[in-house]
Amino acid sequence: MAIAPELLDAAPEIGIRAMTAADVAEVFAVERASYQFPWSEGIFRDCLRVGYVCRVLASASRVVGYGVMSLGAGEAHVLNLCVADGYRCRGLGRRMLGYLLERGAAAGMSEAFLEVRPSNTAAIRLYQAIGFEQVGMRRGYYQAVGGREDAAVLRLSLRGRRPPRNTY
Ligand SMILES: CC(C)(COP(=O)(O)OP(=O)(O)OC[C@H]1O[C@@H](n2cnc3c(N)ncnc32)[C@H](O)[C@@H]1OP(=O)(O)O)[C@@H](O)C(=O)NCCC(=O)NCCS
Repeated sequence: MAIAPELLDAAPEIGIRAMTAADVAEVFAVERASYQFPWSEGIFRDCLRVGYVCRVLASASRVVGYGVMSLGAGEAHVLNLCVADGYRCRGLGRRMLGYLLERGAAAGMSEAFLEVRPSNTAAIRLYQAIGFEQVGMRRGYYQAVGGREDAAVLRLSLRGRRPPRNTY
């Protein structure tokens, strides 16, 4: 019998592994349930095809979150970070973000950037807790109901960040 998500404390049986094409349908189901303007399945497939760092938070039986990051020109860009609704607030988002940042540092990137909607307080709290600071605002960057929404641009130095651990 499956364990109800609310009974899992910090979800110890959930690990981080590489996303594959076979995960995309499940990833997209989480994406569609999490965002008003979700990425398409095709965007996830493109991210895999071009070799972005694509990882899932998964148990043996299901995908409960994911992270996507591009690396280049000394910069890591966290492009997507998402945890399924029933699995939030138990440290999984922090775990995935920590993993991505350590991967970025290990790949020689000196800074990490990401965009976030100013209305997304849960995500902003997480990013601030990790040490991200706002360095700009992209006007009208996001689709929004009845128009566009700005994106806050956040930056974190990766210099001196510890190397990746074996387990997450
Ligand atoms: C943002 C998101 C990834 C956070 O994942 P999560 O697994 O719930 O976060 P964690 O449990 O690791 O929380 C880490 C920190 O984030 C902050 N945080 C997370 N959820 C929060 C909430 N609902 N309200 C306030 N702060 C919150 C807290 O600072 C928390 O630290 P604490 O537990 O010590 O207080 C998740 O809410 C999500 O997937 N949201 C939908 C998709 C999304 O908006 N992604 C970000 C796009 S930029």
